[in-house]
Amino acid sequence: MKRLLALAAAAFISLPLTPAIAQEAQPGTPGAGDPYFPDQGNGGYDAGHYDLTLGYDPGPDRLAGVARISARATQALSRFDLDLVSTLSVRSVTLDGRPATFSQSGSELVITPRSTLPAGRDFSVIVQYDGKPEHVVDPDGSMDGWIRTNDGVFNANEPQGAMTWYPGNHHMTDKATYRFTVTVPRSRVAVANGDLVSKVTKDERTTYVWNSREPMASYLVTVSIGKFQLTDTRVGGYRVITAVDSKLADSAKNFAERHAPVLDYFSSLFGPYPFSSTGGIADDAPEVGYALESQSRPIYPHVPSESLLAHELAHQWFGDSVTPTLWRDIWLNEGFATYAQWLWADKQGTRTVQSSFDAAYARAADDEFWQTPPADPGGPANLFHDPVYDRGAMTLHALRRTVGDESFFKILRTWASEHKYGNADTAAFIALSERVSGKQLDALFDAWLFKPGKPSL
Ligand code: TRP
Ligand code: ZN
Repeated sequence: MKRLLALAAAAFISLPLTPAIAQEAQPGTPGAGDPYFPDQGNGGYDAGHYDLTLGYDPGPDRLAGVARISARATQALSRFDLDLVSTLSVRSVTLDGRPATFSQSGSELVITPRSTLPAGRDFSVIVQYDGKPEHVVDPDGSMDGWIRTNDGVFNANEPQGAMTWYPGNHHMTDKATYRFTVTVPRSRVAVANGDLVSKVTKDERTTYVWNSREPMASYLVTVSIGKFQLTDTRVGGYRVITAVDSKLADSAKNFAERHAPVLDYFSSLFGPYPFSSTGGIADDAPEVGYALESQSRPIYPHVPSESLLAHELAHQWFGDSVTPTLWRDIWLNEGFATYAQWLWADKQGTRTVQSSFDAAYARAADDEFWQTPPADPGGPANLFHDPVYDRGAMTLHALRRTVGDESFFKILRTWASEHKYGNADTAAFIALSERVSGKQLDALFDAWLFKPGKPSL
């Protein structure tokens, strides 16, 4: 379900009735065109659904997978790529049931069908693969992907971990639905996004089936494994599914119940919660150092504080349902989620939004912090730096002060509804803010989002 980066199929002029017609087919590009991660994603097709069947045993640390991917060619294709690291070995690839030629290099799995795919053709690829998965180290030094814990896997895939454990079109502009069938030793639980469909134990293994019916970007997928306590309950109208590391059981007693009040408050401000279930994974993974807003089921390296819970749940609207178009636009995720933390703290009577703004704004004008404009953090190493979060949130507060509460919350609700399950960029947010408020806001956004230096009030 790629929307924005799909390269328009090249229009070739060819002589009729010559073999040249068949040669119009071109290879799909090996990247989606994102300057921060040039190899991420692929051109020439649009993935619609992933059906992943995985077996993993933390003992031997071996993953065996079958990925069935339904896609549509967006150009005539002579061959195309999926993103998958070469440390995992691909055993076979079929395309519409027929064996296809393939090769692996770097993080690209190159697939050549027996005959070219015409533009617009729906096709199905099945990739069988296995190996010992390894996480990647991101440009900022953090771990990402299939991250081992002492009892399983902390699986967090922002910005580029998905390629470490399944093949796909791993740029965020190609959202797709998912079904996961994961078999693990019976002492372990496998938890993924969406709804738990079934759990069947046979002999020494348990198979979990999860279904994620709303479109999802690869970086928001999780299949996490551990000695978890799994709960699946209804709380205040939400289906809340939680997995808690048994080591954290005592401090996580009310984990499921804590979701509803936050979601109710955010729904009242941003519009309806966008997914069929919610919940979270509280793992014991102190070495990871961050939490991630995996779709419908954020993953935490410990039991989350109220503020962290609010941050990851706010991402369900801002980041997960409405997803940026390029990594450069990451402030649309982190600035919004940080602002939502301020809103939740205010609602709870802990701290007013104004006081959170004031504290962030109090950084001295010569502080390094002010040198990074949030809408262009300067490269993949800076994706999760403070200015993206705090100056992003301050931008929203400055907007609110300028347009007033009524317009401001209307802007947020319209953003969430107009781009539900889609992608949108900073320019679209600015245009929407001007449309809803009826104000010219270039100067405000220029100062807060694009120019280095401390904006004046
Ligand atoms: N998006 C995460 C959040 O909710 C943060 C995050 C994801 C992160 N991947 C990361 C932070 C890598 C640092 C490094 O804030
Ligand atoms: Zn965040």
